[in-house]
Amino acid sequence: MGETLQKLFDEQDIVAAVRRLAEAISRDFDDQEIVLVSVLKGSFMFTSDLAREMKGPVIVDFLRAASYGSDTKTSGTVTLTKDLETDIEGKNVIIVEDIIDSGRTLRSIRDMLLARRPRSLKICALVDKRARREVEIEGDYVGFSMEDGFIVGYGIDYAERYRNLPAIFVVKQEK
Ligand code: IMP
Ligand code: MG
Repeated sequence: MGETLQKLFDEQDIVAAVRRLAEAISRDFDDQEIVLVSVLKGSFMFTSDLAREMKGPVIVDFLRAASYGSDTKTSGTVTLTKDLETDIEGKNVIIVEDIIDSGRTLRSIRDMLLARRPRSLKICALVDKRARREVEIEGDYVGFSMEDGFIVGYGIDYAERYRNLPAIFVVKQEK
C-alpha cells in the first residue's frame, strides 16, 4: 500500500494565482497597512509568496490552530496552540489559509479574531473545496477552486510529508 501523486496545479498556475490575489488585495486596500495572519503550517509557503507580491505596507504574523475530532473530519472545536504576537485591534487583517474544506477551522479562527476588533477582517485561501462546506464561510480572495480530493504540496502535507513540493498534487491511494 502506498500513494501516488497526480499534478493538479503546477508552479506557473500557482505564480499566476498568487499574483492575481496580491493584485486584488492591493486594489482593495491601496496603501493601507495589512496584517497577514498566516495559519500554520499549511500556508507558510503561500504566505511568503503572497507577501512578496504585495505592494503596500504588510505585517506578517502566524497562528496555529489545533482542531479536535477524527483525522479526516474536524469537529469545529479549535484552540490556538500558537497565538499572534501582533495586536490586531483597529487593523486591516487578512487570514491566509491553505485550504477551506468543511470551513469549521476558518470559521472558528475568524470568530476568535473578530472578537479582537480588527478594523476589517478578510479571508484569503489558496484552495477552496466549496462542495465540502459544512458551515457558512466564504473566502474573500480565493486562488483555486476544486471538487473533492486530498491535495499536497506547496506547504500542504499528508502526515507532515510533501510540504516541500513546489506544485500541488492530488493524492491517490494505491490498492
Ligand atoms: P476544515 O476545518 O474542514 O475547513 O479544514 C481545513 C483544514 O484541513 C485545512 O486548513 C488543512 O489543514 C486541512 N485539509 C483539508 N483538506 C486538505 C487536503 O486536501 N490536504 C491537506 N490538508 C487538508
Ligand atoms: Mg490548515
